[in-house]
Amino acid sequence: MDNFTYNIPTKIYFGKGQISHLAELGSKGSKVLLVYGGGSIKRSGLYDTACRILKDAGVSVVELAGVEPNPRIETVRKGVEICKTEDVDMILAIGGGSAMDCAKVVAAGALYDGDAWDLVINPGLIAKALPLYCVLTIAATGSEMDMFAVISDMSLNEKIGTASPHMVPVFSILDPEYTFTVPKKHTDAGTADIMSHTIENYFTNVEGAGIQGHLCEAVLKTLVENGPVALNEPDNYDARANLMWASSLAINGLLSGGAGVPWTAHPIEHELSAFYDITHGEGLAIVTPAWMEICMKKDPSKTKDFAKFGRAVFGITEECDECAAKDAVAKLRQFLFESMEIPSTLRAVGITEKDNFEKMAEKAATRTANGYVPMTKEDIVEIFEMCF
Ligand code: NZQ
Ligand code: ZN
Repeated sequence: MDNFTYNIPTKIYFGKGQISHLAELGSKGSKVLLVYGGGSIKRSGLYDTACRILKDAGVSVVELAGVEPNPRIETVRKGVEICKTEDVDMILAIGGGSAMDCAKVVAAGALYDGDAWDLVINPGLIAKALPLYCVLTIAATGSEMDMFAVISDMSLNEKIGTASPHMVPVFSILDPEYTFTVPKKHTDAGTADIMSHTIENYFTNVEGAGIQGHLCEAVLKTLVENGPVALNEPDNYDARANLMWASSLAINGLLSGGAGVPWTAHPIEHELSAFYDITHGEGLAIVTPAWMEICMKKDPSKTKDFAKFGRAVFGITEECDECAAKDAVAKLRQFLFESMEIPSTLRAVGITEKDNFEKMAEKAATRTANGYVPMTKEDIVEIFEMCF
């Protein structure tokens, strides 16, 4: 196991009624920037609840509404401008990864003199940030309990992840009831995203990281058990609760500390989103089984890892590693594309031409050279072809 530091200071208020803790903002500042997406929080009533609690706590509110899925740098800039002109002293994101990621870079940009895009391409420039608080409404990215933010500049076809301990939320409220209204498409995509974070952590070259591996298996089994339940019974509290806590644990360092290698499916998916604005979790679901097959083709010694994954997560009993590994990929496809009803090809998510395969693969390959199985531009083009 490698050396690591585990320090995620985000306080989690988990469960029904925890929204009352928003009142704590009354003792932390006087003006908050409320960051949210396209309106789901208005339809669910959460917006009214939050505004009422903040008003009662004596906090005044200014707003950055309309954060896009795959949040854009233009929206971040708008938020930074509001913080600077309105003298905002804290940020509250209510929503999913997009609202939270946008809020994180706004929080950092508010205390930075240059353009916010600098902070996306050069995380080292993030020296401080306004305090950030989150109310999570969808189980997916884990942004509620991590230091990452992913921002897009569609004019450059760039979708880039930045990170800083200054952007870690101070507290996050996780009430599974707020996820009852998440539509099928995003329940699917969110589950696939959590699964991908866990898979990226599970397949590692670090020897001896047994506890991390077993924790990954527990998260993956939790997703396999609860994803389809949440899909078919959107207001099943325990299914939503299990997905929600899995979302935070998959990416807060618990599974990767001491065991991590650079991720592969994520850099590949980020190119698909940067060029075609597809839903992150859907892209990951499409890419991951093909990535697994290329891993085993390039490095047959990895077959045993995929066999282990299949036995632990899907209960495969085949004794031969090659058969179990093959079965594992088939079972994963069945889970993602049949049980979770996720579109299974790039065509099905609207990528109907191959024109950008080379360009996307070239960019992704700059980040996949040191992964579990190093992936070249040619390997990534092959993955795109398999997924087409
Ligand atoms: O915008 P609104 O109206 O709120 O609707 C959203 C949006 O359309 C809707 N939604 C969310 N909660 C809902 C709801 N609809 C009804 N009821 C609710 N309770 O769901 C849609 C998707 O929301 P979004 O925030 O975009 O989803 P997600 O949480 O999956 O975030 C995706 C973004 O996060 C990035 C992704 O790349 C993508 O840009 N990621 C962030 C990471 C991080 N910070 O650590 C890591 C991830 O790997 C990922 O890259
Ligand atoms: Zn992800």
